Amino acid sequence: MQHARRRHVLAALALAAFVAAVAFARLTLSAQPAPATADLSVSAARGQKVFESRCVECHGRTGRGDGPASPTLVPRPRDLTSGRFKIRSTNTGSLPTDEDITRTIRDGLPGTAMPAWRGVLSDAEILDVLDYVKSLSPRFRNEQRQAVHLGANVASSPASIDRGRQLYDKLMCSACHGVDGRGKDAIATSFEDDWNQPLQAADLTRPWTFHGGSTPRDIYLRFRTGMTGTPMPSFADSANDAEMWDLANFVASLAGKPLWQMSAEEVTAYYAREDAEARANPAKRGEYLVTTVGCALCHSPVDESRRMLPGMRMAGGMRIRVEPFGDYPTGNLTSDKETGLGNWTDEQIRQVLTRGILRDGTRLLPYPMDWASFSTMAPSDIDAIVAYLRSIPPVVNRVPRPTWAPFPRYMWGKFKMLILKQDPPILFLSNAGSRS
Ligand code: HEC
Ligand code: HEC
Ligand code: HEC
Repeated sequence: MQHARRRHVLAALALAAFVAAVAFARLTLSAQPAPATADLSVSAARGQKVFESRCVECHGRTGRGDGPASPTLVPRPRDLTSGRFKIRSTNTGSLPTDEDITRTIRDGLPGTAMPAWRGVLSDAEILDVLDYVKSLSPRFRNEQRQAVHLGANVASSPASIDRGRQLYDKLMCSACHGVDGRGKDAIATSFEDDWNQPLQAADLTRPWTFHGGSTPRDIYLRFRTGMTGTPMPSFADSANDAEMWDLANFVASLAGKPLWQMSAEEVTAYYAREDAEARANPAKRGEYLVTTVGCALCHSPVDESRRMLPGMRMAGGMRIRVEPFGDYPTGNLTSDKETGLGNWTDEQIRQVLTRGILRDGTRLLPYPMDWASFSTMAPSDIDAIVAYLRSIPPVVNRVPRPTWAPFPRYMWGKFKMLILKQDPPILFLSNAGSRS
């Protein structure tokens, strides 16, 4: 089926970028120093071992969220030294409870790369690594945690859901989540978190992507306490407790069916609606595709610790080293006329994505940008991507041309790929561009 295949292509693309990063994570990990063990409690010291074997790939040796896999992840792994947590049952500004963090580790954060460790780690190991995580931020030594008190829950009913719908309008949740919770008609559509990473407001009809869980209680806690570090605010004093339960029941009632539970007719209807909306607004569809494929993860410059430079999303300049072929700085995809795509024709952009041919006729290798798999996208989707790229405000960033390996090294690389069937290692390096 055409649609299902498109979905799979997208999923495979996102996964490929992730796997490449994790596979070569070990190479760069050894460069990061491990923190001192001296002051740790016995359980935290045991937890450190768990952390070193399970968490450093993403959260980094020092816990600062800069592990080798981190550049390819949206949202980024948390900086655990900052003492800032999204998923809490405590007041805004307060640290989470032990149970909050344990639950995050046990169940993971759906909709993000943070895995569920239940079944992988024993209960005892989870408690040990909890102690180690707490040792990473001095806040846990100095502060009391203030749990919120939720009143008795209001059972869901048509009347409660209806009252909740009114509160949803009154509190303007729709400004970010849209009138029907899907965000399509929201006033604000692009967000950044406090770590300068792009972020999307949750699609409230897809509760399986809620990081903190999808029961009415989970939902209530999220909007009551807010999600630290993101634009999702706290609505602590905006309504009384019973009204808040009504709102939680309303949001829970928006839940749609995940694709994998839909009947064939439902899948067809779902995509028909998506396609109609895409045709009505190609740039929006393009933005969705670009986010899903993760174009920005390669086409944005990063600093030494691989954080995206603020204001430079899609401005190119990340150096990607493909051994032994050479260094490939990514192009500036913003609409700047001098250094970006501003002066490219639509057809020239399409040529890159579908045939791997640059404006000057140069042919791209299949690495690092897997253009061959883009070429399997529907032509309307390629057009949507072009429409979106056109809408990105110009950012000046002159990116140097790639450096090619000398011919013998190039042939050796080809030999390894084609004959020995070894994929070349890919490294993501810091900015190659210059803003002048
Ligand atoms: C594959 C990458 C990955 C691995 C491995 C990983 N994490 Fe995470 N972790 C993440 C990401 C991504 C986030 C941030 C998600 C977000 O901001 O919504 C996160 C967030 C967290 C948070 C913060 C939750 C909050 O409320 O803000 C904690 C605590 C955490 N991870 C602990 C751990 C521990 C302990 C381990 C090892 C047992 C671990 N993580 C392994 C990716 C990972
Ligand atoms: C200013 C914009 C904004 C407003 C207003 C807003 N939200 Fe959000 N909301 C967000 C963003 C952004 C996220 C995604 C946060 C993330 O992924 O880390 C989010 C996430 C959520 C989630 C998912 C929680 C999870 O566990 O991942 C729920 C549920 C939610 N919002 C409900 C609401 C409700 C109900 C209201 C109104 C009372 C509301 N939001 C108002 C921006 C907003
Ligand atoms: C794995 C990293 C990676 C991903 C993901 C990626 N690209 Fe690229 N892209 C590159 C590299 C590297 C180049 C430069 C290749 C060269 O010059 O040899 C490039 C070149 C381009 C060019 C030519 C622009 C120029 O100035 O050279 C366009 C247009 C482009 N990419 C668009 C996209 C779009 C759209 C997406 C998402 C659908 C995407 N790329 C995803 C790495 C990536």
